[in-house]
Amino acid sequence: MRTQVGIIGAGPAGLMLSHLLHLQGIESIVIEDRSREYVEGRIRAGVLEHWAADLLDETGLGERMAREGLMHGGINISINGALHYLDFKALTGRGIMVYGQHEVVKDLIAARLAAGEQIIFGVKDVRVEAIDSKQPVIRFTTNGKASAIACDFIGGCDGFHGICRPSIPEGALTTFERSYPFGWLGILAASPPPDHELIYAYHDRGFALFSMRSPSVSRLYLQCDPEEHIAAWPDDRIWDELHTRLGDKQRSRLAEGAVLQKGITAMRSFVVEPMQYGRLFLTGDAAHIVPPTGAKGMNLAIADVVVLARALKEFYRTGRNDLVQQYSSACLRRVWKAQRFSWYMTSMLHRFHNDNPFDQRRQLAELDYVTSSEAAAKALAENYTGLPMEGSVRYLIV
Ligand code: FAD
Ligand code: PHB
Repeated sequence: MRTQVGIIGAGPAGLMLSHLLHLQGIESIVIEDRSREYVEGRIRAGVLEHWAADLLDETGLGERMAREGLMHGGINISINGALHYLDFKALTGRGIMVYGQHEVVKDLIAARLAAGEQIIFGVKDVRVEAIDSKQPVIRFTTNGKASAIACDFIGGCDGFHGICRPSIPEGALTTFERSYPFGWLGILAASPPPDHELIYAYHDRGFALFSMRSPSVSRLYLQCDPEEHIAAWPDDRIWDELHTRLGDKQRSRLAEGAVLQKGITAMRSFVVEPMQYGRLFLTGDAAHIVPPTGAKGMNLAIADVVVLARALKEFYRTGRNDLVQQYSSACLRRVWKAQRFSWYMTSMLHRFHNDNPFDQRRQLAELDYVTSSEAAAKALAENYTGLPMEGSVRYLIV
């Protein structure tokens, strides 16, 4: 097989890259090691920054999102049970869109297939070759048969545990990393969310987040020990803890319902520099991970591929190579700001094992500041709703 851009991974990054390239008349093939059912059912992120929602809309993917997505004008911060509203619309003129990552993935897969493009699911033994040449190759097996894609460029969109990043020779990348002494236990529940807006709850017993997927389905998270086994968390214990951290003593604000899914995710901050080597470009979680408290992971993945699609558009239209060469440095400016914001939200809202009374007082002062100062709230709102994208997104599609 031959194509212009070979893409490894059918998450938000790989699928959006293929979609944007198609709009420029650039061919791609996506390969994915999981099944279509698996990637369409994988519950992960829920928040789209305002420009990312506009991008979906402007590139023909907005129909279901307009019907089923939930426009939000701000978030609540709960401090030991006391609720404070940060009105993003009033602070920045912008809101965010709550629309599940698996819904974005479903819409992108449907659009790729409707355009007659190939996504090969269930591939195995994926590897990349000749990435520092002008004709890199992706090799894999599909249905037990060896196969290969010869291409001009490779999109390394295979997430944190993929093969692309480790295929870059040792010494070419620098890693920046920090881990956190807690994880998130997440559930999807058949119950209405406690409030129209998300609630980020600081509590002496630990952080909790009350989000949603629809008016009747909640997505709820609890700070927990990352080593803890999910079996240690029967449903009753989860609901008790959610009520407590919400300050819901009467158990009247949070409705309980069937737990449809649960799992524990560890947290880390991670970046590799540069995000490219030869003709292999790392995008999204393959290049960086943020703790989810800032709701930035999916948005960063989409931001990376906007930059890459723009660079490849210039390469194929005019032969210009400079934007391709500047891919990593263009992305990293945004990546580091998202890292900073995600670290800030995480460290403001979680309890740390080694908290000393000074740190805890400082943390409470930070929460008091951000919920009482317009300047501090505005900085949070600007970052949460999405920092400006360099150049217009429209430029990409006209
Ligand atoms: P992925 O979605 O991981 O996609 C990579 C794809 O590559 C996968 O489909 C994988 O199966 C495939 N793959 C892996 N290895 C191979 C291989 N060898 N060959 C072929 N295919 C391969 N982000 C937000 O923006 N907002 C949020 O609210 C948010 N909340 C989150 C909550 C949780 C609990 C978690 C875990 C994450 C959250 N995130 C959030 C982060 C977000 O989900 C990720 O940043 C996002 O999935 C990154 O997209 P991606 O396409 O780069 O990677
Ligand atoms: C979610 O709805 O899954 C979600 C929302 C906000 C976050 C993280 C996850 O910060």
